[in-house]
Amino acid sequence: MSTSTWTEPEPSPLLYLLGQLKDADSERGVECPGVLPPASDPSLVARALAAKEKLGDKVFILGHHYQRDEVIQFADSTGDSFKLAKDAAAKPEADYIVFCGVHFMAESADILTSDEQKVILPDLAAGCSMADMAALDQVEKCWSELENIGIAKSTVPVVYMNSTAAIKAFTGRNGGTVCTSSNAERSMTWALEKGERILFLPDQHLGRNTAVLQMGLSLSDCVLYDPLKPKGGLTDIELMNAKVILWKGHCSVHGRFTLDSVNDVRAKVPGVNVLVHPECVHEVVKAADQIGSTESIIKTIKAAPSGSAWAVGTELNLVRRLATENPDKKIMFLDKTICYCSTMNRIDLPHLVSSLENLVSGKVVNQIKVDPDTAKWAKVALDQMLALPAK
Ligand code: 13P
Ligand code: SF4
Repeated sequence: MSTSTWTEPEPSPLLYLLGQLKDADSERGVECPGVLPPASDPSLVARALAAKEKLGDKVFILGHHYQRDEVIQFADSTGDSFKLAKDAAAKPEADYIVFCGVHFMAESADILTSDEQKVILPDLAAGCSMADMAALDQVEKCWSELENIGIAKSTVPVVYMNSTAAIKAFTGRNGGTVCTSSNAERSMTWALEKGERILFLPDQHLGRNTAVLQMGLSLSDCVLYDPLKPKGGLTDIELMNAKVILWKGHCSVHGRFTLDSVNDVRAKVPGVNVLVHPECVHEVVKAADQIGSTESIIKTIKAAPSGSAWAVGTELNLVRRLATENPDKKIMFLDKTICYCSTMNRIDLPHLVSSLENLVSGKVVNQIKVDPDTAKWAKVALDQMLALPAK
């Protein structure tokens, strides 16, 4: 008989993706405590309504445009990540902000609300894979490489809203700004007036599309920094000469749209307008008729003439809602394959009901709390964005 002792095997990394482990600093999510009502429970809508009514003004529910219809129907306010952060800050009377969105959005709401208010993410595993592509230790390593070659002082970090609070705090500490997809051009222009180059993170596509298609820079002004390689896989000269150092991150949803999808829809639907989010790859954005942040996609479709046809390259929950709300227009999804944001979709009615019913019984579950020092510096970068001159 063997005498070796049994040791527990290392958990599979897959469990992180499934939200089964505790890794509270990651966007990938952690286990969700408590028992959820089954999705098949026919009383879920009534339960959500009853809990919301009992909580009254104590609760304010925010719903990002990419959320499911079953959840968005209970939102007191809907919007993109920027609008929702501002809406949360404008509700000081609400004890609880229930954020139906993803982890980084709930963090921003916590940073912008008072210490007394509690921000709740109904499923802690609702993270953003793009935000996870820039970890603090990687960004600090990159910054010390820039220091070693003497260019950190002349480099201004511009961080996309889709990033962890720790990365926003890094940006605040180093004189940079947060940006969203609706003000990336303004933020990057400000940064280039302040310094000689930008470190743009984590979405390479938003950075490249804004630099080249909106600011008139060339593709050769941009270099791609791979955090898994020393100095990002670049030479000192490449880093020094760059106007924009793009972090090698992307959105797993918007990155799936291809030039073929654009060509296919144009061949099949004559006169179609192709409207895409700036997180799509450069060749797709270049081939589109219009580029728009989440809010501007919604405004464009609302204002479009009756009978016009639109192929929209963004998250599927939003495109389906646009189609339902604009029956006089032909609204279609740009890609042939289904393309939900799987982490946004984690927040479903059972998770919302569970969060609200827990609050009714005095229990706060799944609170998102950013530590005070991180919150202080992240707010510096967020406030810098809010202070940017209007266009
Ligand atoms: P918004 O900033 O438009 O809300 O976009 C968030 C997002 O996750 C886009 O993929
Ligand atoms: Fe993140 Fe992309 Fe989902 Fe937006 S759509 S939350 S960027 S993974």
